Parts: sequence; C-alpha cells; structure tokens
Amino acid sequence: MSRGLLITLEGGEGCGKSTQIRLLAAFLKKKGKSVFITREPGGTRVGDGIRKVLLDNKNKKMTGICETLLYMASRAQLVQEVIAPRLKKGQIVLCDRWMDATVAYQGYGAGIDVRWIRSIGDKATGGIRPRLSIFLDLPLKEGLRRATSHKKADRMEQKNLAFHKKVLEGYRAIARSDARRFKRVSIQISDSVPTVHDKIKKEILHVL
Ligand code: TMP
Repeated sequence: MSRGLLITLEGGEGCGKSTQIRLLAAFLKKKGKSVFITREPGGTRVGDGIRKVLLDNKNKKMTGICETLLYMASRAQLVQEVIAPRLKKGQIVLCDRWMDATVAYQGYGAGIDVRWIRSIGDKATGGIRPRLSIFLDLPLKEGLRRATSHKKADRMEQKNLAFHKKVLEGYRAIARSDARRFKRVSIQISDSVPTVHDKIKKEILHVL
C-alpha cells in the first residue's frame, strides 16, 4: 500500500495547469508537505523522448491507436520509475495530466474505444489512482489562443476546433461520472492567476 497522495491536474490547451501546479506545490510545501511535481507525457528520459515524437508537427500520419499507445508507454515508464517509488515514500505527487487525458483526447476527441483505453491504462498505471483530479475548465477558444500566443502550435494543438470541443466535453463527462475524485473548476476568462489558485486550494483542502 502506498502512503503518499497522487493529485493530478487536467484541462484543455492553455488552461494554465503548469503555472497552477507550481503554485500548488509551493502552497503545499509551505504547509510542511513533501511534494514532487511531474508531467505527462514525459517526466522520465524515456517519456521525454516519447513526448517529442507525440508533439512533433512532422508526425502528421500518426494513427489514433499509435498515439494512444505512446501516451500509455510514457505513463507506464513514469509510474514505475517516478510515481510509485515516491508514493511509497509518502510524498505528495502532483502530476500534470494522467489517464483522464487519454480518455478525453484519444477517447472522446479521436474516437478510440474508451473501454480499451481504460483496460491498457490499468496496466500502465499499475492500478495507482489519483486521490483528487482537478479539471481546469477554461472557455475553448481562449485556451487555444493562450496556448499558441507565444509559440507555434504543436501537433495536438493544431487539431481542429471540433476535436478540442469533444475533448472538453469528455472531461466534463468524466467529472459527472466520477464526481468524488474528478473536480471541475470553472475558470472565467477574466480570472487572474491568484484567483484560479484560490479555487484550486479549496478543492485541495478537502483532501488534506
Ligand atoms: P501538455 O500540453 O499538458 O504538456 O500535454 C501535451 C499534449 O498531449 C496536450 O495536447 C494534451 C495531449 N495529451 C493527450 O492527448 N493524451 C494524453 O494521454 C496526455 C497525457 C496528453
């Protein structure tokens, strides 16, 4: 049995997860917790290599099944190499994305069978489940604007609006079906970074 706590952050493009995960880590550290931040895809040498392949615009021919397996491969490596040992030590692991992203993007977005995703996901995660998952729900077009305002869109960001709409609908469906674990945090376009941080803190304080 692991003694630690896995908390994941989810959302569409440009929802501000990376900024918020750093603020959350600082908040938890101030409370005396031992915290480790990681992300998917990536977080290991193997996973970082897989991430490059997944996001490379040149890989236009990648199929949905291939894409799904690559996200899972990165996850399997991250769980064994990084997440499981840290949970065993009793740390709080904050992970930028998790299995829910594969269900939302490849399942709802790209139409890959969600039952199959969940079954290979069980293997990849070794049965580890987040105690809490926070879904930052920012209006779609604003998220895509923020994600691509300072850099060229990557292979996933380049997918069309209909795809990204289905992804957000997928996340909302997960929030409805797994309401105890998966919390939807609604973000207004006008919300400042500290405002979003406060909304996240409210959810975190319930599980600490
Ligand atoms: P990031 O923007 O959070 O770093 O994630 C990289 C991209 O990968 C983003 O477009 C979401 C996508 N993604 C999936 O499509 N499926 C997955 O399982 C994961 C973890 C990410």
